[in-house]
Amino acid sequence: MFPKNFLIGGGVSAPQVEGAYNINGKSLTVADLKYFEDVKNRKDITNLKTTSSKKIDYALQNESDLYFPKREGIDFYHRYKEDIKLIADMGMNAFRFSISWSRIIPNIDDGKVCQKGIKFYKNIIKECKKFNLEPIVTISHFDLPYKIVQKYGGWKNKKVISLFTEYASVVLNELKDFVKYWIPFNEINATIFTTFVSAGIIADKEDNLLESCYQALHNQFVANAKTIKIAKKINKDFQMGCMLAQATCYSLDCKPENVLYNLKEQEKKVYFYYDLMAKGEYPTYMLKYFIDNNINIAFDESELELIKENKIDFISFSYYMSGVNSLNKNLTSEANLFKLEKNPYLNESEWGWQIDSIGLRITLNDLWDRYKLPLFIAENGIGINDKLEKDLTIKDDRRINYLELHLKELKNAINDGVNVFGYITWTPIDVVSSASNEMSKRYGLIYVDQDDNGNGSKKRYKKNSYYWFQKYLKNHLQ
Ligand code: BG6
Repeated sequence: MFPKNFLIGGGVSAPQVEGAYNINGKSLTVADLKYFEDVKNRKDITNLKTTSSKKIDYALQNESDLYFPKREGIDFYHRYKEDIKLIADMGMNAFRFSISWSRIIPNIDDGKVCQKGIKFYKNIIKECKKFNLEPIVTISHFDLPYKIVQKYGGWKNKKVISLFTEYASVVLNELKDFVKYWIPFNEINATIFTTFVSAGIIADKEDNLLESCYQALHNQFVANAKTIKIAKKINKDFQMGCMLAQATCYSLDCKPENVLYNLKEQEKKVYFYYDLMAKGEYPTYMLKYFIDNNINIAFDESELELIKENKIDFISFSYYMSGVNSLNKNLTSEANLFKLEKNPYLNESEWGWQIDSIGLRITLNDLWDRYKLPLFIAENGIGINDKLEKDLTIKDDRRINYLELHLKELKNAINDGVNVFGYITWTPIDVVSSASNEMSKRYGLIYVDQDDNGNGSKKRYKKNSYYWFQKYLKNHLQ
């Protein structure tokens, strides 16, 4: 049994499920600009992760000939009632979803709140409450309004801090009576690795790309702190979390140079973010990194004060796989936002993500030891090219195996004494893949009849993993 009040649920994000991209006032987002490109080599999608000005122009000039998967999502906008009921029927008690900024303040800087947008999210919460699902709300999940890119050049512009906090403040106030757990930014470390979707930065437009990315990140840290401040004023019991793409990595071997290199990589890609938001300061190793790499961040003392005074209440992260580092930098393995080395002891998914359930236990122990803040697994799951059989079943035994192993290690971590209060599987229902834009990279426990080009009935079918999870929750949730 999991501890009493343990949260177990499913998570989705607005751009990957909602669709209805131009309905009821919503303006265009960066996610709406990603058109479908066939993934020739699923284990190397670097090309898909970067968005150049050429690609954006191409998208806008050829709108009618191209297919934009995130404009369609899985039509959750119209089917949320059916979907939330299916999710609740599994026996889950939590639902993580994100709010789309461009549905709430479509014009961004005129302050006009779109009531239809507010109503949509209130309706989602109403369904959650009907089925006793605790809503966990992400305020920004890879769908920056495109106007922020056009007018302000993305998050590197300090003006975006106040625009975001204005939006966040509307959301916090409107939903204050129904939501306790908030995540201002999804995978905030993605700002360095997928700069366009996370921060609205177009790589070829920057003279010093790394500096622009860290400036954007700094501005997001300030916005995060301001959001926490606003939230605590509304309700001091609100629980505010950070969220990272957790890249747990091992050193390739015990060669001290490799061990040191791995530590430095982990600091830069992972610990830095937790250190800053949990301890409220830029860690010294990062200040050194900025000097060594000619990165000058514009900030003033008041921003640093703000970061120091408004720290997170909990740590959350996505965990899919682990990686390996060595000085050889033989980066042949695709690993969510990163490219890493292969681990000879692990199997990998079709997309090259290295499956490592014990890594989850290691991660939980490590983060608890370092920060002593409650932990929350905001995403865990596996992308598989599931097939709908003739008899309308989906035999996703590999997913069952993946989930079973990870949940076992989660329990082991709890037995180790780690304070973890929730687990969200990504995803309860098939969604459009974030990085590869495919439908065929399916994460769901519920199958959606829709292909990479948007064809299909969109009908929902329960996979074998759905029934497995239902049974699992019956036996493990108090
Ligand atoms: C995380 C994101 O990076 O990983 C999700 O928060 C995403 O939005 C998930 O779906 C899996 O990545 P992908 O690219 O396979 O969808």
